[in-house]
Amino acid sequence: MQNIQVVEGDITTLRVDAIVNAANNSLLGGGGVDGAIHRAAGPQLLETCRTLAGCETGQAKITQGYRLPASYIIHTVGPVWRGGDYDEEALLASCYRESLNLAESSAITSIAFPAISCGVYGFPVNRACEIAVSTVNSWLKQHSSKITVIFVCFGGDLKACYDRVLSKG
Ligand code: APR
Repeated sequence: MQNIQVVEGDITTLRVDAIVNAANNSLLGGGGVDGAIHRAAGPQLLETCRTLAGCETGQAKITQGYRLPASYIIHTVGPVWRGGDYDEEALLASCYRESLNLAESSAITSIAFPAISCGVYGFPVNRACEIAVSTVNSWLKQHSSKITVIFVCFGGDLKACYDRVLSKG
């Protein structure tokens, strides 16, 4: 698959143009990758996030990366998994699409995604990987901008999941 990579590790250490934060609607920090990003970026991130007036589920907002090696953070809010009848799949796809749209408009050429909604928000991992890969692949095919997309796996069998979905082509 063009321009798509899968790596294992801590997203806060990646030297890419942008890392994506799996945030909550308040954008004021939390646990999981949200907590790790706020800790690594430093207090200025929270100060800036306070001015953003939150973020709708499925939408994305961008900030500087502050103390992170990444230049930007794209904050997106994934759906909480509630069984699958509440537009969760469409909202998760929207997180990837809106983050890429924001990256394109900010001339970002490398972006790293955590597995949005696959932690606290309880989204089934296999289905989330399929949605992530198909949404990113469709977006790359429909847009001329060359963006390298990195799926970052933090433990578990996430990498095997992405690799399996990507090998299906
Ligand atoms: N680097 C990369 N991935 C990470 C890291 C990290 N440092 N820390 C956690 N992850 C992974 C988790 O293992 C999981 O696969 O990010 C994925 C998303 O998990 P969560 O961070 O729990 O995010 P999510 O399921 O979207 O829930 C969002 O959790 O932290 C709160 O404020 C956040 O309320 C929001 C909710």
